[in-house]
Amino acid sequence: MRVVLEHLTKRFPNRNRKIKTEVVAVSDFNFEIPDGKLIGLLGPSGCGKSTALNLICGLETPTEGKVIFGDEDVTGLPPDKRGVGMVFQNYALYPHLTARQNIIFPLTNLKGAEKLTREEMNARAEKVAALVQITELLERKPGEMSGGQQQRVAIARALVKTPRVLLLDEPLSNLDARLRLQTREEIRKIQRETKVTTIFVTHDQEEAMSISDLIIVMKKGVVQQFGAPQEVYDDPANLFVAQFLGTPAINTFDAEVKDGRLYIGGAAVLDVPGARDGKVYAAVRPEGFIPDPDGPFESALERIEIMGRDTTVISSHPDCANVTVRSIVSSENRIDTASPSVRFRLKPFKVFLYDRDTEERIRFGTGD
Ligand SMILES: Nc1ncnc2c1ncn2[C@@H]1O[C@H](COP(=O)(O)OP(=O)(O)O)[C@@H](O)[C@H]1O
Ligand SMILES: [Mg+2]
Repeated sequence: MRVVLEHLTKRFPNRNRKIKTEVVAVSDFNFEIPDGKLIGLLGPSGCGKSTALNLICGLETPTEGKVIFGDEDVTGLPPDKRGVGMVFQNYALYPHLTARQNIIFPLTNLKGAEKLTREEMNARAEKVAALVQITELLERKPGEMSGGQQQRVAIARALVKTPRVLLLDEPLSNLDARLRLQTREEIRKIQRETKVTTIFVTHDQEEAMSISDLIIVMKKGVVQQFGAPQEVYDDPANLFVAQFLGTPAINTFDAEVKDGRLYIGGAAVLDVPGARDGKVYAAVRPEGFIPDPDGPFESALERIEIMGRDTTVISSHPDCANVTVRSIVSSENRIDTASPSVRFRLKPFKVFLYDRDTEERIRFGTGD
């Protein structure tokens, strides 16, 4: 089921009643989520992710705009009429019911022609339990299960009515690191098997990048960029997106363009044909540095971290906004750790320029 959002907007009165201005939690969302995809809705805490999800499932009513499933406008429908499955961070299982009873629960209030017999309900519960691999846990209560197992029960419960759209709000946040990794792979697998259009909310860019077909990056209620994870990583539209995606974070420098060349400090570090003259931010991905004794970019070497295949070179530069400059280079490079400084060439496609005021991208040519 494709999901279309048209001018979707949600404004709340400020929680502090003394402040009269409204909070725009979701501002003019316009996009189409293609059928059968897993979408990562990504942004820092408080940027409006949960509100966006609640508007899609019907827990919140939009101030303006529409939510469309397929060709049907569902904006006026209550959550239980939309055919959505929801999974929350805190599982929200009934503690006194077994996993089986929890999963069956959404089926027990079906009415009329949709009403199911006990056998049919059990068969459905067992099918989704097998899908999320909790068949052996069906007779246990939540208190007798780990966090990861409880979250799988919650996913099974969201899937039992065969939803048109599955919505997951930070479903892995309460799990420990190892379980988080494993469960996110399982969510990806379940989504592939069921092909249900899924929106996965997270503030963790690595989580979103690793499992999503498409990511939506948002900031303060506004969509910043929408695209395949690699596309967004390789072509960040503004400084916020560039800095939000990637571990270690992109290195941001105060820089200047003069006559088609990029200057960091006094040094001309890269040809940037077509970029207009003036002060800019230059953001360089950690993998954008090539060690080169004759390279134009020089920084003060602090230390190196050797991680097998790769080496992280940690250095400092007075014009870098990050605490340190982090460069990831192949371990085949020999870095002279006795030297007070280190020199690099920069890979042009790993360097992005941004306007100092708008923080929007300034494009430049490749020079050929
Ligand atoms: N019911 C509400 N009343 C007032 N403000 C709200 C309400 N729900 C959310 N907000 C505000 O809307 C913004 C977005 O919140 P939320 O959608 O929960 O963000 P996220 O899920 O990305 O952390 C925040 O500033 C939050 O304080
Ligand atoms: Mg939230």
